Amino acid sequence: MKLLRSRTERIELRTQPEAKALLERAAQLRHLSLSAYLLETGLRRAAAEVRESETLYLHDVDRTMVYATMAEPPHPNEALTALWNNPNAQPVTLIPLPKDLICRPFDCGVLELNRFLRRDAFDNGQRHVGYTFVAVTKARELAGFFTVTNTSILAEVLPIPALRVGKLAVAQRYQQQGLGRWLLRQAVVMALQEAHDTGINALLVDVTDAAAQGFYRKYGFLPFQEHPLTMLLPIQTLRRL
Ligand SMILES: CC(C)(COP(=O)(O)OP(=O)(O)OC[C@H]1O[C@@H](n2cnc3c(N)ncnc32)[C@H](O)[C@@H]1OP(=O)(O)O)[C@@H](O)C(=O)NCCC(=O)NCCS
Repeated sequence: MKLLRSRTERIELRTQPEAKALLERAAQLRHLSLSAYLLETGLRRAAAEVRESETLYLHDVDRTMVYATMAEPPHPNEALTALWNNPNAQPVTLIPLPKDLICRPFDCGVLELNRFLRRDAFDNGQRHVGYTFVAVTKARELAGFFTVTNTSILAEVLPIPALRVGKLAVAQRYQQQGLGRWLLRQAVVMALQEAHDTGINALLVDVTDAAAQGFYRKYGFLPFQEHPLTMLLPIQTLRRL
């Protein structure tokens, strides 16, 4: 594995004596040093988990739903058409998350999303595993954000390429003023551009909980049965806007 060759970074960890003994025994069985064993097994597991997270695997009902939806994409509903035709200007600018903004206060009411923005969003961008765009006010206040990644839906042999919008959130003091809708419109613009440039066929969104599903349902996104926190809209639907 290429990642095992040059080692310039250091990882330290503490564990119980029994756990260390078990790991040492396993390393001996593989004729590896403890650190080489930990690194090799950790990297294999990490690569598999990242691969898994980048692909949405579908079975049965969801597979049928995806093929039916892609074959006959629904027309944009009234709310989606209104979102598209009325951009509803907001007092913010959308920019890729700059490093100097990650320490700015941001509270959308969902701890997981607040933490993601503060701790992981910038680093993910640096590692090219997902890009975060932030809505910034004139006073450089963080009003909202969303992340985008490329992904695939694996329903049959051929994967369906898609843009995945995750973690769309609006700071509590800016909620219910049309900013969520504005951010979603920006994501739709990106999806259409990506479809034009690279040929993606679907827009996926991730939701944090059932309450947030209502927001995307309003604009016609369809939930998966096996993955209730992921929702889909075919690019063909967006092209009809
Ligand atoms: C969900 C969220 C992004 C909505 O943002 P917002 O700026 O408050 O929403 P908007 O003001 O743009 O609302 C647009 C429309 O969606 C509706 N809406 C907003 N949140 C909704 C929800 N959870 N369920 C159903 N409809 C919702 C609004 O009533 C509004 O409808 P209208 O145009 O008919 O008046 C925001 O509440 C938020 O950040 N929540 C916490 C994080 C979260 O749950 N993110 C979602 C997925 S990760």
